[in-house]
Amino acid sequence: MHPIYTPTSHLSESHSSKIHLSKSYELTEAGDRYFDGLAEKFSRSLYQAPRGELRLAMLDYLLPQMLHLEAQPVLDVGGGLGQLAAWLAERGHAVTMAEPSQDMLTHASAWHAERGAAGTLLSDQLCYLAAPLQALPQQAPGPWPLITCHAVLEWLGEPRLAMQILASLLAPGGQLSLMVFNRDALRFSNVVKGNLQKALSDQLAGKGKRQRLTPISPVTHDEICQWGADNGLIMEGVAGVRVFQDYLRQPPEKESDQAALLALEKQYCRQDPHWRLGRYLLYTFTKPEADV
Ligand SMILES: C[S@@+](CC[C@H](N)C(=O)[O-])C[C@H]1O[C@@H](n2cnc3c(N)ncnc32)[C@H](O)[C@@H]1O
Repeated sequence: MHPIYTPTSHLSESHSSKIHLSKSYELTEAGDRYFDGLAEKFSRSLYQAPRGELRLAMLDYLLPQMLHLEAQPVLDVGGGLGQLAAWLAERGHAVTMAEPSQDMLTHASAWHAERGAAGTLLSDQLCYLAAPLQALPQQAPGPWPLITCHAVLEWLGEPRLAMQILASLLAPGGQLSLMVFNRDALRFSNVVKGNLQKALSDQLAGKGKRQRLTPISPVTHDEICQWGADNGLIMEGVAGVRVFQDYLRQPPEKESDQAALLALEKQYCRQDPHWRLGRYLLYTFTKPEADV
C-alpha cells in the first residue's frame, strides 16, 4: 500500500511568519477563494488531524478502484499542498500541478523536493503551474487523459462553470476524478453539533473571510449530476469520503477503534444511503470517445 503522506515538516515557524506577511483574505473578482495565507492553517486543521488522515487513507483505498491508472499524464487542478500530486507521481504519472495560490505552491514544491531528496519520489515527475482553473484552457489545454480536481469547486464563485472548463480539458475517453464538499453533509453536521437555527435557515455556506475554512460554495449530488450531464460527461462512480467520522460523539482514541472506524468507512463508502452523507463526494466521470 502507498499511503498519501502529509506535508508538515516544511511548515516551519520561518515559513509561517512569511505566510503572515503575505496574508490576503479576499475573494478574487470571480468570487474564488485562493488559499494564500492559509497554507499553515489548512495543513494544521485538516491534514495534521485525524479527519485529514482518514481522507487520505480513503483516497488511497478508492482511487485505484475508481480510476484506470496506467501511468498516464495527469493535470491536478487546485492541487493545494501537493499530496495527491505526490501520490500520483509515485505511481509513475507525470503530474502537472496547477494552483493559483503561490503559498500553497511553495509549500507543495518544497515538500516534493524533500521527498525527492529522501528518495521516496521522483521530483522530475512533477511540474507546477501558478494558474487558476479558469486559465487552464490557455495555459494547459491538453487534452488530458486524466484530470484530478479535489476539494476545489466549493471554493469557487461559479462552480458550475468550472465543470464546463474541466470537461473541455479532457481528452475523449479521458477520466476526471472530482471530489467536492457535500452541502447535505454540512447541513447534517450542523444539526448534529446543535447549530439548529443555522441549519433551519439553510445559511450553510462560508463567506471566505479571514481564515475560515467553511467552503463558500458547498454543492449537492444533484448539482454534480446535472453539471456532468450538461457537459456530456458520464458518471462512472461515486463514493462518500468520511461517511461516519464527522458525526461521532466521541472521536476514537484507541488505535483499535481508529482501525475499526477506517474499516467502517471503507465498508460503507459506496453503499446507499451512507455515501450520500459523506463529508466529501468523490466522483469518476469520463468523456465519451469521439464518434467515428
Ligand atoms: C481545500 S483546498 C484543496 C487542495 C487539494 N486539492 C486537496 O484536496 O487537498 C482548495 C484549493 O483550491 C485552490 N483554488 C481556489 N480557487 C481556485 C481556482 N480558481 N482554480 C484552481 N484552484 C483554486 C485553493 O488555492 C486551494 O489550494
